[in-house]
Amino acid sequence: MLFEGRFTEGKNAFDNRITQLFGISYPVIQAGMIWASGWRLASAVSNAGGLGLIGAGSMYPQVLREHIQKCKKATDRPFGVNLPLLYPDIGQHVAVILEEKVPVVFTSAGNPKSWTSKFKEHGIKVVHVVSSARFAKKSQDAGVDAVVAEGFEAGGHNGREETTTLCLIPAVRDAVTIPLIAAGGIATGRAMMAMMALGAEGVQIGSRFVCSHEASSHIAFKEAVINATEGDTIVTMKQLTPVRLIKNEFYKQVQEAESKCVSTEELQNLLGRARAKQGMFEGDLNEGELEIGQVSGMIKEIKPAGEIVKEIWMSLLSLRKCHLRTKYQPYRFVPFTLFS
Ligand SMILES: Cc1cc2nc3c(=O)[nH]c(=O)nc-3n(C[C@H](O)[C@H](O)[C@H](O)COP(=O)(O)O)c2cc1C
Repeated sequence: MLFEGRFTEGKNAFDNRITQLFGISYPVIQAGMIWASGWRLASAVSNAGGLGLIGAGSMYPQVLREHIQKCKKATDRPFGVNLPLLYPDIGQHVAVILEEKVPVVFTSAGNPKSWTSKFKEHGIKVVHVVSSARFAKKSQDAGVDAVVAEGFEAGGHNGREETTTLCLIPAVRDAVTIPLIAAGGIATGRAMMAMMALGAEGVQIGSRFVCSHEASSHIAFKEAVINATEGDTIVTMKQLTPVRLIKNEFYKQVQEAESKCVSTEELQNLLGRARAKQGMFEGDLNEGELEIGQVSGMIKEIKPAGEIVKEIWMSLLSLRKCHLRTKYQPYRFVPFTLFS
């Protein structure tokens, strides 16, 4: 259900390739996030006119199926699944997605070639997450419908290139012709407007939605995000897979181990199998892994997810004149008032 009144007023302001690709009202995508984005969050965002994504990365195939089925009951609007491609039982996840006829899949952490054609054979829209212009090009060649370009500010696993969103978005825009979604450090209408000016046609937002009522993350983790200030996050474990998290006791242990130049195996043992769950889902703020983006320093409130979509959208509309990317005319200067 869309918001009434003023919120619906500007719903066609950015009717572009992203809104058309997914059949949504606003090009605002809630990122798929382990231990945070289940059916409640995904359906709330989709009901508000954005695109909600279920994060399959922390779900066994049967759990994923339950979330998809509950999401279908909670919304009649499009939603998707985020699927990190590196999991050993990925084939089972794929089978669930196909059987449940999920309309959109965002793949990440792997080769876009591996599953894109399979999904597309079934009429599923495929988007791949990249952290460089080179991989954006590879994804386009693999036949994806769009790319998410995620900068170094982002919460969770990061690209090794360490390219910030500000540098990444224009580089990817120049490298590919398919629709482009910006991610990393976006939590406000101002930031979204900046991304559109850089050539993005939509935004994927993670950290802001962690602090929503519907996110499945533990309340202690949500409060830690609210209390985080500038400089409280860092990208660590570069020897394994770089990840941005809140500096805590666990991080200090990683730092100490790295200063002793421990082997990758020892680091893997320190990380263990359930650190992320322990921190983000069970709320162990000392020993758990607390993945979140730099923008956490700006997040001050836990709100309903639909309110977050509305806030970002209304703020965007209040920026009356801007550079924005339209469907076929990138970088055309358009007075925003014409659309709102
Ligand atoms: C708690 C958390 C978990 C995440 N889990 C995943 C994941 O499972 N798969 C994925 O592709 N990205 C994951 N990400 C990255 C997000 O999808 C998104 O690209 C990122 O959060 C955007 O940057 P932002 O946090 O500054 O909004 C995660 C991010 C966070 C904060």
